Amino acid sequence: MENPATKAWSGRFEGSLHETIYKFNASIPFDIELIEYDIQGSKAHAQMLGETGIIVLEEQQKLILALDEILDEWRSGIFRPDPEAEDIHYAVEKRLIALAGDLGKKLHTARSRNDQVAVDLRLYVRDHLDRIDTLLQALQGQFLNMAQDHVETLIPGYTHLQRAQPVSLAHHLLAYFEMFKRDRERLVDLKKRVNISPLGSGALAGTTLPIQRHLTAALLGFSAPSENSLDAVSDRDYVVEFMSASSLILVHLSRLSEELIIWASQEFGFIALTDRCSTGSSLMPQKKNPDVPELIRGKTGRVFGNLVGLLTTLKALPLAYNKDLQEDKEGLFDTVRTVENCVQAMTILLAEGIVIRTERLAQAITEDFSNATDVADYLVRKGVPFREAYNLVGTIVRTCLQENLLLLTLPLERWQQFHPAFAADLYDAIAPQQVVAARNSYGGTGFEQVRGALGRAQAWWRDYKG
Ligand code: ARG
Repeated sequence: MENPATKAWSGRFEGSLHETIYKFNASIPFDIELIEYDIQGSKAHAQMLGETGIIVLEEQQKLILALDEILDEWRSGIFRPDPEAEDIHYAVEKRLIALAGDLGKKLHTARSRNDQVAVDLRLYVRDHLDRIDTLLQALQGQFLNMAQDHVETLIPGYTHLQRAQPVSLAHHLLAYFEMFKRDRERLVDLKKRVNISPLGSGALAGTTLPIQRHLTAALLGFSAPSENSLDAVSDRDYVVEFMSASSLILVHLSRLSEELIIWASQEFGFIALTDRCSTGSSLMPQKKNPDVPELIRGKTGRVFGNLVGLLTTLKALPLAYNKDLQEDKEGLFDTVRTVENCVQAMTILLAEGIVIRTERLAQAITEDFSNATDVADYLVRKGVPFREAYNLVGTIVRTCLQENLLLLTLPLERWQQFHPAFAADLYDAIAPQQVVAARNSYGGTGFEQVRGALGRAQAWWRDYKG
């Protein structure tokens, strides 16, 4: 094989590149990921070259057939780009020339690798936005299934990780449904800005040849050609936006992961881990570890890092294309892989990896003072000013703690010593089921509200077109 490092670029070059610098410069080890998008972009470009008469129609047909053949060869494993090629664009072009002869050398007419790579990257992001949306849809479906089964299952609700007020488990699960709903909406919003065609911007300034940018944009399913060639070849905002949207997906997954890890601990015991998604310890035979949520929590750091990395690469970059931009890819591909893997793993974990310990939850909500607000609300309904009621209930809680009692086990005569407004109906008002049911404000945890919210979530999920 000809050593590509000894190849001179064009007539302009007399000498050849240092071999180490050749490798340093190359992007083929990672931009191979773009191969199918590169072929897709080239087919549209070839078609346009034919339609506009820049090449003749027969040439157009041959180029498109040869590009299709390269795609088939790639998919069937016959074509594997030369690992020594500089980048995927050259690798495909070289294969095209091998298949179509000198005609292959016409493909790059009126195009630069700068607009070519910008097209490839936009097609790649657009495609993965759709895939991630589908994965998030499945994850949301899992929350809906679980919520349906647990409207009346109670779980301690926390603020500051201190027991606050009990809530419906479905309400807790639907909180995550909302987060992933916003995530999906963000992806759709971002797609508007991804879906613009930079093809035809040339190296930076456009081209002297009579190309039709609207045609290539339409052929590739883009909504419009970009307005400014300088911006088009150097814009990576949409990658930053994608990485930022991905970071929020991971924020949400990591919060859920943390909760699952805590819930699986012996101290909480709200869920048990099944053998499907957990592993043991090599030393301690009693252990079952929540590897999946721990890994998701850990991978979140990588996704944030990729975002900050790209922002830093773009900072203060002068117009237009600079080789710095080649550094956009590895972080992007890593983020895509990580988000896709994490969303999928979480969906499997929720479906098969955990069991909700309802008996333990039922016990947990009776062993604390999370119904204290309801005592204050009870007094408010009897005409006592809230602040006064609040202070009094604080005193009652302190007394109970001293005497190792709970509000539900404090005898009625003791209540009445604290305030004459307390009557026997107090016990019903502060029973956990009633405490939750009574929070019937819109968006609250009352069962009626949760049923309404679940119905709206199901309708949104069914009708939403990502
Ligand atoms: N491999 C390059 C990249 O990823 C392709 C564009 C190269 N353009 C150039 N003018 N050297 O950015």
